Amino acid sequence: MNDRAPYIGDRRLLAPRPLVSCDRPTAKYDRKGGGISVASAGRLNNDQPMSDIRCIGIATGGGDAPGLNAVIRAATRAAIIKYGWKVIGIPDGFDGLIWPEKSFELTMKEVSGILPRGGTILGTTNRGDPFHYKTVEKGKEVSRDISGEVIANAAKLGIDAIISIGGDGSQKIGYELFQKGLKIVGVPKTIDNDLSATQVTFGFDTALHTVTDAIDKIHTTAASHHRVMVVEVMGRDCGWIALEAGIAGGAHVILIPEIPFTVKHVCRCISEREKSGRHFTIVVVAEGVKLPPELKENRRASPIANLIGNAIAAGSKKEVRISVLGHIQRGGTPSPFDRILATRFGVAAVDLIAAGGFGMMVALHGDSIISVDVAHAIGHLKSVDPKGELVSAARAIGIGFGD
Ligand code: F6P
Repeated sequence: MNDRAPYIGDRRLLAPRPLVSCDRPTAKYDRKGGGISVASAGRLNNDQPMSDIRCIGIATGGGDAPGLNAVIRAATRAAIIKYGWKVIGIPDGFDGLIWPEKSFELTMKEVSGILPRGGTILGTTNRGDPFHYKTVEKGKEVSRDISGEVIANAAKLGIDAIISIGGDGSQKIGYELFQKGLKIVGVPKTIDNDLSATQVTFGFDTALHTVTDAIDKIHTTAASHHRVMVVEVMGRDCGWIALEAGIAGGAHVILIPEIPFTVKHVCRCISEREKSGRHFTIVVVAEGVKLPPELKENRRASPIANLIGNAIAAGSKKEVRISVLGHIQRGGTPSPFDRILATRFGVAAVDLIAAGGFGMMVALHGDSIISVDVAHAIGHLKSVDPKGELVSAARAIGIGFGD
């Protein structure tokens, strides 16, 4: 690799590099199938076979989440400091491997100062899928399988293994590429915290802080104006953000996909509060909430909070205002918890590569970072348990779920 490689802007262009075998010792990965693996990432010992890893790539896919840069930084630093590897940043998820010339080297300098930054310095996309790559040919949109080119381009860049940081969709694509021969390890990510393979994903805690802060602010204006405030939060399939931020922010009603609700029951909560002299109500709604039949016809009228808010206004005869928090939940500087978890994931992913744990993903289990088989991890969402302790605690303090 030429140290004086040309730059695009401040990014170093990469020249293809021949694969050479590494002189560093690493552990052989002991794959134990079935759900959460008991093997711990990073337990290396020097009696193990030599690794042929010299260079790794890092890609971020799907919606961004606070903490992505912390993973990129940690993985880059651990790869360089602990293993002496070269690290390549792949822009915009696997799309970056369609145009390998856009990739750039991640050096200690390149990742310096990114720890507190939201977003991802690599860029991301939630539409990139090399198995169904959409292009326009002769004026018509067509879908092509370009996974072979993507794998060939990774090899051209001299990338021996890739860390794919992403949610369920990105992990699925990564696993398919792994099955076709690309050496991939996964790092789970989503602010929705709905991946079953890991106890928590980074980004969730930061999102909770953002939403809780918003609910606190909405509280005072709701109380001053004696209004019902409907706050819509993210959570496409599961209600974790709504439930936890709702509890943390002192919401009175929480509507989540896991618990069917009716407008009538929500209005009953509001009128009970009215009767006891509390003339305002905060309703937190997860965007993926299942609508009752009377509202279903208008499901496409987005955002969902408008639909629910209008129905509550009609049913309660109260003044209702809507706040859709939207993408501010995905932004901002990651919380200390997310920075630490992201750092642990980044280091563990590098150790997992050193250990040969391809097709695996790092995860948090209790106090430990472990590795799980991606094949078992994808496609299983972690839903809120309607009878679980968290919902029961919320009910015990009078929070309604509209059921
Ligand atoms: O998956 C995370 C998430 O934040 C969902 O809660 C939300 O529906 C989605 O991303 C929005 O993604 P985008 O606007 O980037 O398509």
